[in-house]
Amino acid sequence: MSTKKSLLIVCNTPSANTQALADATVAGASHHDIENVDVVFRSALQATSDDVLSCDGIIVGTTENFGYMSGLIKDFFERIYYPCIEHTEGLPYALYIRAGIDGQGTLTGVQKIITGLRWRPVQEPIVLQGDYQDEFTKQCEELGMSVAAGLDANIF
Ligand SMILES: Cc1cc2nc3c(=O)[nH]c(=O)nc-3n(C[C@H](O)[C@H](O)[C@H](O)COP(=O)(O)O)c2cc1C
Repeated sequence: MSTKKSLLIVCNTPSANTQALADATVAGASHHDIENVDVVFRSALQATSDDVLSCDGIIVGTTENFGYMSGLIKDFFERIYYPCIEHTEGLPYALYIRAGIDGQGTLTGVQKIITGLRWRPVQEPIVLQGDYQDEFTKQCEELGMSVAAGLDANIF
């Protein structure tokens, strides 16, 4: 049986920019110095409650659409909420949001759901706002790396 921990990354990626953010998050989490963490990427549509039940940490990445999280990420939370609520208390999580201009409605919405799930934030949420910048991928890479490193070192 593997003693490795599992880091689940669940994102919606409707554009080349948001795909680059997801890829950077996975790349950071897969850093070669991090030996004891398996990185599992799932698109928001693919991700299941079994994926959440079997992970040791989760990073969620969503766009802001119409002032709220993307429909696909909302659907993800709707599908996993009740199967997970009694079993994932304290799950370490991190969040990034890609928003054209705002991001606050998404931040509030996701945090409300996660408060219900009683997951535990291990990084400040990142809101990547305004015109797309190459720096955003660096932020996602660092987010992935720091969550994976924390799991690897048993800090979380
Ligand atoms: C239908 C739709 C609704 C959107 N609504 C918002 C919004 O309410 N607030 C916001 O900040 N950005 C909004 N955006 C912008 C998206 O968040 C942004 O385009 C997306 O994160 C992809 O980023 P990119 O344009 O860098 O690829 C919206 C985009 C679409 C397509």
